[in-house]
Amino acid sequence: MDISEIKHAKLKKWVEETAALCTPKNIYVCDGSKAEYDRLMGHMKDIGMALPVTGRPNSFHFRSDPSDVARVEDRTYISTRSKDEAGPTNNWIDPSELKKIMLGLYKGCMKGRTLYVIPFSMGPIGSPISKVGIEISDSPYVVCNMHIMTRVGSRVLDVLGTDGEFIPCVHSIGAPLEEGQKDAKWPCAPIESKYISHFPEENLIWSYGSGYGGNALLGKKCLALRIASAMARREGWMAEHMLILRLTNPEGRRYHIAAAFPSACGKTNLAMLQPTIPGWKAECIGDDIAWMKIGKDGRLYAINPEAGFFGVAPGTSYDSNPMAMDSLKENVIFTNCAIKDNGEVWWEGMTKDAPAHAIDWKGKDWTPASGTDAAHPNARFTAPASQCPVISPDWENPEGVPIDIFIFGGRRACVVPLVHEATSWQHGVFMGATAASETTAANICDIGNLRRDPFAMKPFCGYNMGDYFKHWVDMGRKLGEKAPRIFYVNWFIKNAEGKFVWPGFGENSRVLKWMCDRIDGKAGAVETPIGLLPTKADLDLAGLNISDNALNQLLFVDQDAYRAEIPDMEKHFNQFGDRLPQELKAELEALKKRLG
Ligand code: GTP
Ligand code: SPV
Ligand code: MN
Repeated sequence: MDISEIKHAKLKKWVEETAALCTPKNIYVCDGSKAEYDRLMGHMKDIGMALPVTGRPNSFHFRSDPSDVARVEDRTYISTRSKDEAGPTNNWIDPSELKKIMLGLYKGCMKGRTLYVIPFSMGPIGSPISKVGIEISDSPYVVCNMHIMTRVGSRVLDVLGTDGEFIPCVHSIGAPLEEGQKDAKWPCAPIESKYISHFPEENLIWSYGSGYGGNALLGKKCLALRIASAMARREGWMAEHMLILRLTNPEGRRYHIAAAFPSACGKTNLAMLQPTIPGWKAECIGDDIAWMKIGKDGRLYAINPEAGFFGVAPGTSYDSNPMAMDSLKENVIFTNCAIKDNGEVWWEGMTKDAPAHAIDWKGKDWTPASGTDAAHPNARFTAPASQCPVISPDWENPEGVPIDIFIFGGRRACVVPLVHEATSWQHGVFMGATAASETTAANICDIGNLRRDPFAMKPFCGYNMGDYFKHWVDMGRKLGEKAPRIFYVNWFIKNAEGKFVWPGFGENSRVLKWMCDRIDGKAGAVETPIGLLPTKADLDLAGLNISDNALNQLLFVDQDAYRAEIPDMEKHFNQFGDRLPQELKAELEALKKRLG
């Protein structure tokens, strides 16, 4: 489509101004069609950027630049007029200063490239809960990924009409191409000139220098979490880093669960779990982001604003996540995996035995003796959600699904038990606000460091986290008796040999069953200083081969270890000053008392 066909005057003006700044070779407005996808993919194949994958029709592999392999939290900004509005957990630069820097970078940055205009909808097109974004990008890889991850196309422009509201998202890989210059396979800018910037006061996103994941697919973390979380607070709803799943028990009673775990801590896996307990059925609604509003009946309803999965490849196998594996049979984009000699993709954990030889994610020869990862730990697959065999028939229902249970969690080798339940909404909010997790390869940083990641939103909250805590407290007050019950899980406890103690994956259904039974008043629990825990007898462990020792470790509340964490929780809370809700201060004091 040509720019002259855009009927929305403000959109057209913004595209023209951006083009005048970035000086692309040409402009192309995406229609979202399969023909468009095939054409762009064909072009990337011709230039050697996309590699067809053996055994998976219409699937391609990409290798990123080794410096551009994950989100860059250090280079991610929440730019509000006052620094206080962004809060202590976000990077901040004054909007006028940041814009000056970025306008400098954007000047001529698309030279020699095509400027793609990508109209997309987060949520079903035309649904009252959906938001329209327009991403301008100079990366055909981004266009193809957006085709899968969001609803792209002319229909979005139709919905916008001549004056509808949209969220402008500018993206450039930051690699202008001079006349006659040979292009890189994965062009991008060096780390110190990458900027992933958000202006929540004007619903605006500017991204520069990276082509990878959440840095570049701007509908996901930038719009659906950072910008949306700020909108949600203003408008009284919630935008959360949560999977959504439906469980049905043998009697046919349905439970809807939304769970917030930090990046690479198990959302996609839990979202698609195959229960190991007889008679229980699970369906996936979303694997990363939930938008939630209070419905007419006073309950909290969740939709998945995305249309695809951008999932962690390593560790995904027919044993751990068969439903994800079955979603990857065709129409997939793989990034930073290994390629076997027969042209199939491979990653660590996919099969018991590693291939004898492969080409690794950097394009180099690899054997098991290499001593390096064949696939990057943050290698990803992009796949349409509709291809998941257990996708719920309600996954695109604009009404959403009513949430019964919230789960928080993280990756902790010790201290935090397998599961515990909050004694009240306020206590649950405290659990979310103090959540901590070991860092993963989903962000470029030192991996394995423990950090507080409240509600798994530390990298994604578009405003002051203290106000975000308050928003959670307020939502509970509005929901009253209809508020979801809150639990906390840790699948990642390790034994002295460094092995996971809990089998995880499908076996996590045993923990979910306990939660559902708790709601129905059918399962017992013991009170501990940190909350309510099941005993061994309260968990359905039939058919599970697990030692008593292991169970003791999983259900042990290490009070000394919790006591030792109090100063860090206090430090964490203190950074919010006056913005920390009194309710959370009170919860911390109460926890201290209970721990003695
Ligand atoms: P993002 O897409 O980054 O938001 O990650 P995510 O939260 O969806 O995490 P994902 O489900 O992709 O899991 C990340 C890693 O944790 C994978 O390597 C999984 O194999 C592993 N994992 C997930 N669930 C479990 C579990 O129950 N037990 C163990 N031991 N590992 C798990
Ligand atoms: C995450 O890091 O939480 C992801 C991957 O889901 S990305 O889209 O890169 O943010
Ligand atoms: Mn995520």
